[in-house]
Order: sequence, then C-alpha cells, then structure tokens
Amino acid sequence: MGEYDEIFRASVADPERFWLEAASALEWERTPTKALDDARPPFYRWFPDGELNVCRNALDRHVEAGHGQRPALVYDSPVTGVKDVYTYERLRDEVAVFAGALRDAGVSAGDRVVIYMPMVPEAAVAMLACARLGAVHSVVFGGFAARELAVRIDDARPTVVVSASCGIEGTRVIEYKPLLDKAIELAAHKPARRIVLQRPQAEAELGADDVDWAAACAAASPADPVPVASTDPLYVLYTSGTTGKPKGVVRDSGGYATALAWSMTNVYDVGPGQTLFTASDVGWVVGHSYIVYAPLLAGATTVLYEGKPVGTPDAGQFWRVAAEYGVRAMFTAPTAFRALKKEDPDGEFARAYDLSALKYLFLAGERLDPETYRWASELLGIPVIDHWWQTETGWPIVANPAGIELLPVKPGSPTKPLPGWDIQVLDGDGRQVPPGTDGAIVARLPMPPGALPTLWNDDERFVQSYMSAFDGYYLTGDGGHLDEDGYLFVMGRTDDVINVAGHRLSTGGMEEVLAGHPDVAECAVIGVSDQLKGQVPRGFVVLKSGVDADAEGYAERLRAELVTLVRDQVGAVASLKDVAVVAALPKTRSGKILRKSMRSIADGTDEPVPSTIDDPAVLEALRPTLRRQ
Ligand code: COA
Ligand code: AMP
Repeated sequence: MGEYDEIFRASVADPERFWLEAASALEWERTPTKALDDARPPFYRWFPDGELNVCRNALDRHVEAGHGQRPALVYDSPVTGVKDVYTYERLRDEVAVFAGALRDAGVSAGDRVVIYMPMVPEAAVAMLACARLGAVHSVVFGGFAARELAVRIDDARPTVVVSASCGIEGTRVIEYKPLLDKAIELAAHKPARRIVLQRPQAEAELGADDVDWAAACAAASPADPVPVASTDPLYVLYTSGTTGKPKGVVRDSGGYATALAWSMTNVYDVGPGQTLFTASDVGWVVGHSYIVYAPLLAGATTVLYEGKPVGTPDAGQFWRVAAEYGVRAMFTAPTAFRALKKEDPDGEFARAYDLSALKYLFLAGERLDPETYRWASELLGIPVIDHWWQTETGWPIVANPAGIELLPVKPGSPTKPLPGWDIQVLDGDGRQVPPGTDGAIVARLPMPPGALPTLWNDDERFVQSYMSAFDGYYLTGDGGHLDEDGYLFVMGRTDDVINVAGHRLSTGGMEEVLAGHPDVAECAVIGVSDQLKGQVPRGFVVLKSGVDADAEGYAERLRAELVTLVRDQVGAVASLKDVAVVAALPKTRSGKILRKSMRSIADGTDEPVPSTIDDPAVLEALRPTLRRQ
C-alpha cells in the first residue's frame, strides 16, 4: 500500500482521530476534545468545543516562536512598480492596529465587514484584522460592478465597508470609490462607516461617513486577538449559483484552519520559511485560502502579486517573481498559462530566469486542458498538478498530494480524492455508475473540515442547493467520472455556472440583466468554449413584438446596449461581448430553454437533442448562429 492509500484509509477508518490529530497543528485557546458534531445532519460542525483565533494562529504564534523577522507577505506590483516585504512581526503589528481601527468604527465579534479592494497588502491586512476581532469578513472581487456589490452588502449587512480609492488593470486606473458610492446608494442596508485606502494613482474624495485608512490607523491602538468558537464564522464568500442572487458560502474558523494547515504540508508541500506564490485575487476562494490564510498558518511566505501574467510590462513577470523570491510552489488558473503560451510560445521569458527553486506548479479553477498541461510541463520540467475544488469546499477535494507522494499523472484528471473526501459518481436515480461512466459528482456526508457548514442566513437554500438532490450526499454541481483506478475526471458543470478565465459566473445572473432591457422578450446566455478563457458567455435575445429589428443600425446599437448593461450591472469580468438577436429560442414542451443543446452545437460536440424538444425547427434555424465562432 502506498503512503497516499494508507493516509486516505486512516481518514476514512477513523475521521475523528484523523482530524483531531490534524487540529493539533494549531494553537487552541481551548483544545477540542471532540472532532465532529453530527447531531443535526446535514448541518455538521467541526471541533464543537474548541476555541481559537485564526489571526493569532496566522501571525502572533510565529512571532512568539521567534520567527518575527521571517517574511510573511511579499507584495509585488509590476503595475505600480512597488515591492514591499512584510515580516511576520510587521504584519502582526499592522493587522493589530487596523483591527483597533475597525473596533473604533464599531466592529466587534460576529459583525460583518465587506472588503472591496484591489490586490494590495491592505486587503490581506483587513481580512486578518477582522479575524483578529472575531468579526466576519466578506471580500467582494474588485471586477464586480456596483450592483453586485450592493446585493452582497444587503445580504451580509456589514457594519463597515473597507475599500480603496482605485485598482489598476494593466495600464488603466479603475476608480473604486464611485462604484462603492453607487453600491451604497443601491443597497437598502447602509453600513455605518467606510474606510478607504488612498492610493496615489487616483485619490478619492471622502464623504461624511468615509474614513481615511491612514487616519483611522493613526488614531487607533492595537487590538488583541479575540478567541472565538471553532464553529464561529471566519468569513462569508459569495459565489455564483443558478440565479442572479449569489450564495453566501459560510466558512467556519477551526475546521477551515485545520484543513488549510493540513493541505499546506500534504498537498502543496510548502512549509515554514518556504514561499508559495498564488497568482489569483483575494476576491476568490483561491485567494482567501492560498494567498492569505494557508501560507500564514503554515509560517510560510506568501506572494501577493498585483498584475496579470501578460501585458504590463511583459510575459516574464511570473518567472521574475518566482526567481526573485525563491518560490517553491506556484498556483494559478490554467487560463493564465494559456495567456502565457499565446504571448511566449517558446517560453523565452521563462528561460531568462533562474527557476531552480520552483518545485511545483498547481493549477485549479477550471478544467486543465491536456495541451496546456503538456506545454507547462515541458516548459518548467517540474510536476504540474491539476487539482479540483470549489468555493464551497475551501480547499482541494481531489489532487495529487505532492507532500505525501506524487501519484502517476493521467492528463485530464486532477488525480484522486484527498483524505476526508468520499467522492462518488451517481446517475439520476442516485445509483453509483460503473467506472468510466459520466454522472453527477457528489461527496458523501459529512464532508471534512473546511467545507461549508451552511449558507449565510439561509439554511433552507443550503439544503435545497446542495443536499436535496441525493440523500446523504453533497451535490458538487460538476459532472464527470471515476476510472477503474479511482482517478476522477471532471468534465464540467451540470448547472448554469460558467468559468470565464478562472472566474466563476452565473449565466442566470446575466440573463436577468439582459431581460431587463425594454426591447427584450426572452433570452438565454450560454457558456461556450474559448481558447484563452476556457469559456466565454454568449447571449441570445428574442425581441418583443413591435420592435423593428431591421431598422438601420438597430442591431448594432442593441448589441452595444446589452453588452454595456451586463458590464455595468455584473462587471467587466463577465466578458459578455457577443449577443445575437434570434427569432425564437429552442424549448422543451414544458417551456424550458434547451441551453445544453445550444451549447453542444456551439461547441461542436452535437449531443443528441432531447426527445422532449417542442419544435426541432427552432433549433435548426439557430444552428448557423450557434456555429459562428
Ligand atoms: N477590477 C476591475 N476590472 C477587472 C478586474 C478587477 N479586479 N479583473 C478583471 N477586470 C476586467 C478586465 O480588465 C477586463 O476588462 P476589459 O473587458 O475592459 O478588458 C475584464 O474584466 C475581463 O477580465 P479577464 O477575464 O481577467 O480578462 P483579461 O483579458 O483582462 O485577462 C487573463 C485574461 C487570462 C490574463 C486573466 O484572466 C488572468 O490572469 N487570469 C488568471 C486566473 C485567475 O486569476 N483566476 C482566479 C481564480 S484561480
Ligand atoms: P470556484 O468556486 O470559483 O472555485 O469554481 C469552482 C468550479 O470550477 C468547480 O465547480 C468546477 O466546475 C471548476 N473547477 C475548479 N477546479 C477545476 C479542475 N481542476 N478541473 C475542472 N474543473 C475545475
């Protein structure tokens, strides 16, 4: 039996013992005596009698152990030309002071704080400061527009919003303050205060309820870590579901910290004093887990990189960062490597740097296509590790566990389930399918520590979205199969969620926006394959009767209006650039739009059309439009 098999079996045979042992990597205010509270399925709670502070574990603990001068966070921003190193001591001190500033603004344990910031160290400082107070942060990705921010503010009902005057996208300065002001205008809930970090690229005008970050810190005294229950929420992270209303994924404190600490050693193979470079954004789960919390819990060094893989200034920045900080493991989305390959197919930029310290490349967030896998492997000559997880799970479900042993790779598969994850593939009737057969990928309950205990203020939606399709299982929303060796192949979402450049978006949300246009009678948005971004959305609209679609310039004007509408209401990150006016949309006899059939024609896979189709001629008429690249 290999080491992986042995560890996996131990996690299945005695999960309580396995996870209590993993929890001993942390410093607890009150050490848990019990691993799992399973009294109220499907609501499982990890380490119910434990108490800890996650910020203390991420920072103070390492300083007290004599590692205060070790780099904790390296900020590298080619778009502004700034580089800065935060030692553990400096980061602890700055976090403690900002926690004091939040406390002065009225934040205490259990209160929510929305963080809407670009990739600056202060975003991590704000997150950790919330954790220090036992407050619950909710980070909103900077690429989302005001309306998306407003929806999240209304659901989380924060005491304070923390933001910055601007973000930088390549050479463009994006002002955040007008977006924040607009969001607060749209939201029914009005946070008492806004703390704004002024950046020199565009200073914001501050209003009566706004506080300047620097002034708030200057007036504050440092706050000590507040111990909380292991089951208390550390954060809420909104993610796209089937409708326009995002789901507030709740993350607990002790279970999450335990799972992350375990994963740093056993999956990523990065330990104290070693460097992890995760090129993502703090607005996504990858950023929460592997830019901020996991590397700091492990006493490692994290790189917070502000920029894209290509563009400003060139396609060599990832390699420069890897060489400059002796990065041991790098983590990003496959789309970043497709962008690099497009810009630098022969890898000349990579060869210009000494990458001898780089031992692993981890990729997640979307399917890793075999061509990108091959290119990255040949370029770097190190293990390229595809791994599969979701906002809901907080850490990887299926991976090649580099820190335990590297299993043979099967391109197209993220390898095998990690300890604690009992992954099955079921058919529509809830029966396990034979190896090699596609079905719904599910996880048997209870899920291991770190996975979501519920949705924010919405137990009912939690049960309905994830727990009701198959009794005793969590529905991942992904489809795929297990092979005869137990390797999982994830083929794509079975719902209306799409992945655009590694960003999770809801086609349902975009449809709601298109449907708001006065000329639109009905619409559909589908995700179609894209060479660079993996998937991009394409919109199809049917106009209300009486609208003259043939009027000169109308089609172009409407298309531009619809694209702008989605950009303004969802955000630029939606990347909806293509909207076609069509005569009708194909439907089932019960009136459901056949999005899956539309997608399969657009992608050229041409799956059989369901027998429930109402009028096959409608789909046929649409075929040339769908086929157009
Ligand atoms: N704030 C404001 N705008 C943002 C933004 C942010 N944080 N992030 C993206 N946008 C904007 C972009 O500027 C772009 O605007 P445009 O249409 O005016 O050009 C739009 O949203 C689409 O962004 P994106 O899909 O990222 O496309 P891109 O062409 O700018 O970059 C990649 C493409 C592949 C280079 C880029 O997506 C990337 O590096 N991805 C890495 C993967 C990643 O971070 N994944 C997260 C989960 S692991
Ligand atoms: P997010 O919640 O933003 O992390 O997105 C999660 C979704 O991204 C999953 O449900 C999958 O559809 C997709 N995904 C993430 N990682 C992978 C992977 N390694 N292979 C295939 N799909 C992935």
